[in-house]
Amino acid sequence: MSPHDDQTAQEYWEAHYGERERIWSGRVNAQLPGILAGVAPGRALDLGCGEGGDAVWLAENGWQVTAVDISDTAIGRAAAAADARGVRDRIEFERHDLSDTFPEGTFDLISAQFLHSTVRLERPQILRNAADAVAPGGRLVIVDHAAPPPFSKKVPHDHPFPSPEEVLAELDLPDAQWERARVDVVERDGTDPDGQPFTWRDNVMVLRRRA
Ligand SMILES: C[S@@+](CC[C@H](N)C(=O)[O-])C[C@H]1O[C@@H](n2cnc3c(N)ncnc32)[C@H](O)[C@@H]1O
Repeated sequence: MSPHDDQTAQEYWEAHYGERERIWSGRVNAQLPGILAGVAPGRALDLGCGEGGDAVWLAENGWQVTAVDISDTAIGRAAAAADARGVRDRIEFERHDLSDTFPEGTFDLISAQFLHSTVRLERPQILRNAADAVAPGGRLVIVDHAAPPPFSKKVPHDHPFPSPEEVLAELDLPDAQWERARVDVVERDGTDPDGQPFTWRDNVMVLRRRA
């Protein structure tokens, strides 16, 4: 049982964002620029956009973005960041609990970057809904933590961190319609809250719907 089971997902994430004025760096996630190098921009959907680092970067790079989160506080910060960077008109923000509702439409890129939660998150169904919403020729990009950061006090011991193959097995996308453009585990350097170095391991999955 998660220590947060008495909270709804929305309450949990609102409380999380309420702990500090800023939680994330505000920068684009490390893997995304490399994944999209050479990809022509189109319509993008950012699932669990947080404070908008990826959504703003996508908009700055020509994408028309729909950015979704469960937290109004996160969305407010993301919208303020988009305003400050002059790309607010390229991003539509929608609040959803993705376990229950999913944005309308189809997209050339759907990105789920670290869409993890220690409270209710129907991730396999959300990622299947995402696959259904990818337009022909478009990409579903999933980047997960391979393991919790060693300093995290919020992740219960039994919280799963599925491997890329486990995520793809749950998605069960037909090979005739989907190409595995990239499936790997990437290491990158990080520092813990005390400034000590450690290594992050990111599970990177890029799936392309055949045109
Ligand atoms: C670990 S954070 C990652 C945020 C951002 N993608 C990033 O990489 O910086 C997970 C995000 O997913 C959002 N989230 C969690 N559960 C959700 C749900 N059921 N529906 C929509 N968003 C959710 C959280 O509010 C949070 O912003």
